[in-house]
Amino acid sequence: MEQHINFAWKFTKGFEESYISNGLPKSAELIDIPHSVTVEPYHYFSENDYQGIFSYCKEFDDENPSFPIKILHFAGAMLTIHVYLNGLDLGEHISGYFPVDIDISRIIKKKGNLLLVKLDSRENPLIPPFGKIVDYLTFGGIYRGVSIRALPNAYINDVYPVAYADGRLILRLNYGKLDPNIKPRFILREPNSLIKEEFIDLEHVVKDVHPWSIDDPYLYTLETIYGEQHIVQNVGFRTLDWKEEGFFLNGKKVKLLGLNRHQTYPYFGAAAPKSLQEDDAKILKGFGINIVRTSHYADDESFLDACDKLGLLLLDEIPGWQFVSTKQEWRDTCVDFARRLVKKERHHACLVAYGLRIDESPDDHELYSLINKVQKEEDPFRKSTGVRNFKDSEFLEDIYSYNDFSCAGTDHGLDKPSTWKKSKGAPKLVTENNGHMFPTKSFDPTARRVEHALRHARVMDDMYGLDDLTGEISWCAFDYNTHKDFGSDDHICYHGVADIFRNPKYAAYVYASQHINNTFEIASLMQGGDFNEALMQPVYVFTDADYVELYKGETFVAKFFPNKKDFPNMPHAPIKIDDFIGDTFVEKEFSKRESRLIKEAFNFCAQNGFARLPLKYKLIMAILVLKHHYSTTQVQQLYSKYMSAWGEENAAWSIKAYKDDKIFASRSVGPSTEFHYEINIGSLTLTNGATYDATRVQILKKDQFGSIMPYADDVLSISVSGPIEVMGPNSCSLVGGGTSVYLRSKAVSKPELAKLTLSFPTEAFDYEILVK
Ligand code: GAL
Repeated sequence: MEQHINFAWKFTKGFEESYISNGLPKSAELIDIPHSVTVEPYHYFSENDYQGIFSYCKEFDDENPSFPIKILHFAGAMLTIHVYLNGLDLGEHISGYFPVDIDISRIIKKKGNLLLVKLDSRENPLIPPFGKIVDYLTFGGIYRGVSIRALPNAYINDVYPVAYADGRLILRLNYGKLDPNIKPRFILREPNSLIKEEFIDLEHVVKDVHPWSIDDPYLYTLETIYGEQHIVQNVGFRTLDWKEEGFFLNGKKVKLLGLNRHQTYPYFGAAAPKSLQEDDAKILKGFGINIVRTSHYADDESFLDACDKLGLLLLDEIPGWQFVSTKQEWRDTCVDFARRLVKKERHHACLVAYGLRIDESPDDHELYSLINKVQKEEDPFRKSTGVRNFKDSEFLEDIYSYNDFSCAGTDHGLDKPSTWKKSKGAPKLVTENNGHMFPTKSFDPTARRVEHALRHARVMDDMYGLDDLTGEISWCAFDYNTHKDFGSDDHICYHGVADIFRNPKYAAYVYASQHINNTFEIASLMQGGDFNEALMQPVYVFTDADYVELYKGETFVAKFFPNKKDFPNMPHAPIKIDDFIGDTFVEKEFSKRESRLIKEAFNFCAQNGFARLPLKYKLIMAILVLKHHYSTTQVQQLYSKYMSAWGEENAAWSIKAYKDDKIFASRSVGPSTEFHYEINIGSLTLTNGATYDATRVQILKKDQFGSIMPYADDVLSISVSGPIEVMGPNSCSLVGGGTSVYLRSKAVSKPELAKLTLSFPTEAFDYEILVK
């Protein structure tokens, strides 16, 4: 039985001895957990704001007095907690990214327990990731749930199922207190069905098992019965094979395509409840990737649960960033964190390997050998890796991972893995690329946002072409808050394929187009004025279409195919549109060949300027003048006739996407003259459970064609009444044509309706949200 104690805590800055027995003063704030010690703006703040000593207090009754054993469980508090229950000192504990369990069986009373937690969120140089600099923020607070686990005298801490695609199931039981007279029993149930299997052996074979996979994340339910204890968990049957020639899931080779993710959110910091963790997993699955790296620490359990359910593979990692301390205390904690990481995450079907080096740290034979040994003690069934950024790094793990930032704007994506000097014979994985090499904001000019997308495409294409690479995981999913030493000075690293509010940039569609059916994103507003010299740039379409057709108004221009020349390897190369005249050119006086050359020359001019015309095209201009007696003005007029839409009533272009010669999507792009807001509410029902619930309300400004207006910064006021709260400010402006408003539920005793009003100067939107 688990008693969740997340609502109605008291909280204050600072700590006084008197709090231990008397609780917090009346002036203390009433808060719910998950909690951040401060609500920061989404950018421009200081990491010093949330560092300090804070006190949390909770009064509670024991809801399960008949169970003799009580474990107080903190799923995550940043960074250390000193815990007192009913006036007794239960010691100081390092949590950070890991749970802390404290046996309170002898202290807990039936009624009126007083739990006091002194939290220290200061960056402690003796605890990883601290000691030097870190390119991310940890924030501070009891930021994951708190509960009391009520257990019988003999109990199991956790059940680790090792389940293979051929139906083999090995169960490893980690006993809290063993009673040799009690024999554990197991029941395995099929989802949504009455079919079940009961057994007692720790090794069992399930006949005709339905395997777990990326496209079909089939999860069984395993119930472990140990005396009076019932543990219920999900199990996915799958076989992972890391080989030099690739990664295999259930015997089938899968090229890994992924993104790194930081678990932080605007305003919430790291204290985001389950629904937002699930939201992130769904967004990533929607980007069509098949693997996520939880850079650079252990994520919330609900994120891993969501990855299990969605079929999103996961690579986790011990906390840290580039730095390994020589101090023994730090090193011991690092090893302890590795053990805690494995114990926390080994039961997840989605987890394909452990990341057992501090991200991009120097080699440290002693530390990393020990950590690998610890992993194998706790989980001999899974492979390990460790993320490095230099090519002659020692190979101690099972998989050689390397961060390859060699993509720098040429046609180069990745270095050949054969240049990773000590990786011979090992399965190889690229764990980062891009990121700081080309920070890109959702409100940057089109050309930069397109180049950002193409850089991701170049890396991806090289990865698909390199047989000796298992895959690549790019930097990164979402823009994230960071320390003063990094990012764009506003405490944001603009490295995401989506912004900090989870709104996708063009780069996200490069990913989606590989695996998501009918992806179709036109990466341009086709407005010359947004480019230098008002030149029209080639238009990229990120799509899984066989081809697209371009129309000027209603008139067919040309057909374009995936650009296999520049991107020969990826499943769906971007489609490049670079002929804006095509079939619209009807000038009878020119021969076929002349017409083709004139079109080429005009397209070249439109994209590069007259001044840069190469000789080949100068010659065709000369033919116009000499053979067809065109004056310079007439040449210009002919050019304008085809290349300029200035003043035209219907200056819009249309692009239609086809598969098997059937149209599946089409959109127009042109001068934006009418606007609307698109509002997508994650959920109109918020359900309080173990913790409060939350939802993301996505707001986008679009034009009459459905294109996002990337430079829109409209002012938005948010007002709520009833049992919901806005996280962050009650007014903001759009950023890059959109934003997200985050709402959380308050505790209710019965279902209640809350109201949300989103007001722009021109119009307002009202919603009713049910809180249960
Ligand atoms: C890497 C590092 C990441 C992030 C990234 C930015 O070197 O591992 O944490 O800082 O650079 O591109």
